[in-house]
Amino acid sequence: MSADLDCSGPVSAISLAAAAGGADLLFRQLFDASTGTFTYLLADVTSREGVLIDPVFEQHGRDLSLIQELGITLVASLDTHAHADHVTGSWLMHEATGSAIGLSAAARAENVTRPLRHGDRVMFGNRFMEVRSTPGHTDGCITFVLDDHTLAFTGDALLVRGCGRCDFQQGNAHTLWRSITGQILTLPDSCLLYPGHDYTGRMVSSVAEEKAFNARLGGNASERDFVGHMQNMKLPHPHRIAEALPGNLRSGKPRAPLARPAWAPVSRSYAGLPELAPAWVAAHRSELTILDVRSREELQGPDGHIGGSLTIPLPELEARLADIPADRPVVVVCHSGSRSALATQQLLKAGLSEVANLRGGLSRWTDEGYPLAGATAL
Ligand SMILES: [Fe+2]
Repeated sequence: MSADLDCSGPVSAISLAAAAGGADLLFRQLFDASTGTFTYLLADVTSREGVLIDPVFEQHGRDLSLIQELGITLVASLDTHAHADHVTGSWLMHEATGSAIGLSAAARAENVTRPLRHGDRVMFGNRFMEVRSTPGHTDGCITFVLDDHTLAFTGDALLVRGCGRCDFQQGNAHTLWRSITGQILTLPDSCLLYPGHDYTGRMVSSVAEEKAFNARLGGNASERDFVGHMQNMKLPHPHRIAEALPGNLRSGKPRAPLARPAWAPVSRSYAGLPELAPAWVAAHRSELTILDVRSREELQGPDGHIGGSLTIPLPELEARLADIPADRPVVVVCHSGSRSALATQQLLKAGLSEVANLRGGLSRWTDEGYPLAGATAL
């Protein structure tokens, strides 16, 4: 079956001001549990332009669906450095949205479309990120500082009560001391600091806190104290470094082309559900089982159904799995896409692989002008 009709684009945009809690800047902190990596999404509410900081390759589907559901135009995907513990999702995001790939020019990575240098500004709508060079963990580390100095994204230069290691990737503890004390802790005390990683549930800090309590350089610690600490840590190498570093020096572009989904342009919603757009389902209807899981009353009522649907009310689904033809993909439908979402999860759990929810249900199907037949005989 052809998967060439791309119907997986952005869904209709909601109010970004509402999603931002009434502020003029939307801010989301996302987390990859397997590597302890934070990813940050910021968007200017008025223009809907945004930037993504430190995306993770394996979380691309999650990040893209959030950007699409919020109706954000991604200007750039930015990395604080060439990571050693995970591969960046920047190239995938560039392919999906056309966003620039921003990384320090000092990292000398391939596929970077926006090489960054100290003092650069990355604009998104009426806002910008100021680029500060903060080497020491790597020689290409940068910190992104929001235009009004209320937020800074420090990557691995400064972590909550800690900092990035300095024992490989051109690391240098003296350099890191100068970066942190000269470029980060000189920001206002109230500037919130968002790290590249945390492994113990600490999400955010502030300049005032790190000046006072950072275990390596806070309080009365001198450069000599800091360097003495950093040079004696004896840490094991990150276990994914052999894969991650070469991947990041290609900005996350895979060595081989990624396999497209075999049967359909399935997108994954931010809720984590495989979905298909009505246009693709309508164009491939004859090759699919359309499974309608509404109640008997609805199925026999005046609302209509997609012609040729298989009808199994949701409460009966688990007991009637054998009624679903095994030789073709299944698209699950209900009125709004809510009950069919649960049915989709049940079918995936039961072992079906080619199954997806109809995005927006029959409600969106009819809104987009696709036809319904009359009441269903059960
Ligand atoms: Fe790092």
